[in-house]
Amino acid sequence: MSVIPDPAVLTGLDRWRALPVRQQPTWPDASALAAATERLGGVPPLVFAGEADRLREHMAAASRGEAFLLQGGDCAETFSELTADNIRDKIKTILQMAVVLTYGASMPIIKMGRMAGQYAKPRSSDTETRGEVTLPAYRGDIVNDHAFTAAARVPDPQRLVDAYHNSATTLNLIRAFTQGGFADLRRVHEWNRGFMENPAYAQYDAFATEIDRAIRFMGAAGADFDALRTVEFFSSHEGLLLDYERPLTRIDSRTGLPYDCSAHFLWIGERTRHLDGAHVDFFAQVRNPIGVKLGPTTTVADAVALMDRLNPDGEPGRLTFISRMGASKVRDLLPELVDGVRADGRPVTWVCDPMHGNGITSANGYKTRRFSDVIDEVRGFFEVHRSLGTVPGGLHVELTGSDVTEVLGGSEEIDDHALTRRYETLVDPRLNHQQSLEMAFLVAEMLRGS
Ligand code: PEP
Ligand code: CO
Repeated sequence: MSVIPDPAVLTGLDRWRALPVRQQPTWPDASALAAATERLGGVPPLVFAGEADRLREHMAAASRGEAFLLQGGDCAETFSELTADNIRDKIKTILQMAVVLTYGASMPIIKMGRMAGQYAKPRSSDTETRGEVTLPAYRGDIVNDHAFTAAARVPDPQRLVDAYHNSATTLNLIRAFTQGGFADLRRVHEWNRGFMENPAYAQYDAFATEIDRAIRFMGAAGADFDALRTVEFFSSHEGLLLDYERPLTRIDSRTGLPYDCSAHFLWIGERTRHLDGAHVDFFAQVRNPIGVKLGPTTTVADAVALMDRLNPDGEPGRLTFISRMGASKVRDLLPELVDGVRADGRPVTWVCDPMHGNGITSANGYKTRRFSDVIDEVRGFFEVHRSLGTVPGGLHVELTGSDVTEVLGGSEEIDDHALTRRYETLVDPRLNHQQSLEMAFLVAEMLRGS
């Protein structure tokens, strides 16, 4: 159905249309797609250029070791799970983790959700087969429905518009929760005290007591707690579906430069970071801070070429490399990459994704990860940076605020059988609320070791 555009007539932001564009659905109805993208071209932006600029400055601070990024949320958000409780609980989890990390790091934590737009998923195959039936793969709620029926799996462009509205709703709640007093430091601290009442977490008691004492000290010393009633919270998702990202890209009236106004931060996934591909070409041109996932096959030459394309002038905070090597490989593979990038000299913010290199299948058939592997990859990431004298700049995690049972282990010992209890993710397994907080205590100790 689609017509290959003449590269000669495409400029700038539409040049990707003439390049290999991986991981996109085959939309069956071209006129419905045109109607949806035209609509998206006219809707208000979800974020503002000035906010993206401020985040870029924060990310630059993270690259220098003056701030630390906490980026977390679902592997795939879904339309049906868009409820006030779910959003509140995710924000609450991230804020609780951030307090612990702030204490451990003694520096500001940049809070960022994989939220308000994390609806598009890359897949290893275009199709999914169950028994005798083969259907198009589920590519996220922005494309099709997860139900395994022919009708549900047809890519529907109206979903692009629905994803926009759902992102707007989510962002509205995020802004309300983080600006309206819900995020008050004293309140978040009280939640953490509640968590610590569970004897399973006794090993973190000493650390939690120190935080408690620090907060009491602040109170006694007359700290301005009113200034700590609000937090900055940024949105992010994988910049995957270009029929969504392109129409939401706008020219900023202040600077005359393009910003992708679907989120503050966009990252290019491991499956779409090809130098000859549409994604690198497109995101090279937007001014937002950009991430790229780097898996175990990445070479120094790849990383440097990505810097050439995405941050040729070495602007601080512009480019983040999110490594996801796997716990068993991070200590072997990451040093050469980090060292090669350091030798280049242009600044990069290094972030650890300890989720996507650690997938396993449980004995009873669940796609899962071990909490111990997740923590071990973070530990390896810190060790590598410590030994090279470079900066570990943040953490990228798949988590949720509820009590799901999707990742094995943690002090509450989720085992194979427990996976059957509340395994709800449609794509990758997420840390639950408790595992997320436990991770924050463990990472805070690693940060303090610096
Ligand atoms: C993801 O972040 O959900 C994802 C698909 O990651 P990666 O591109 O690293 O595989
Ligand atoms: Co994932």
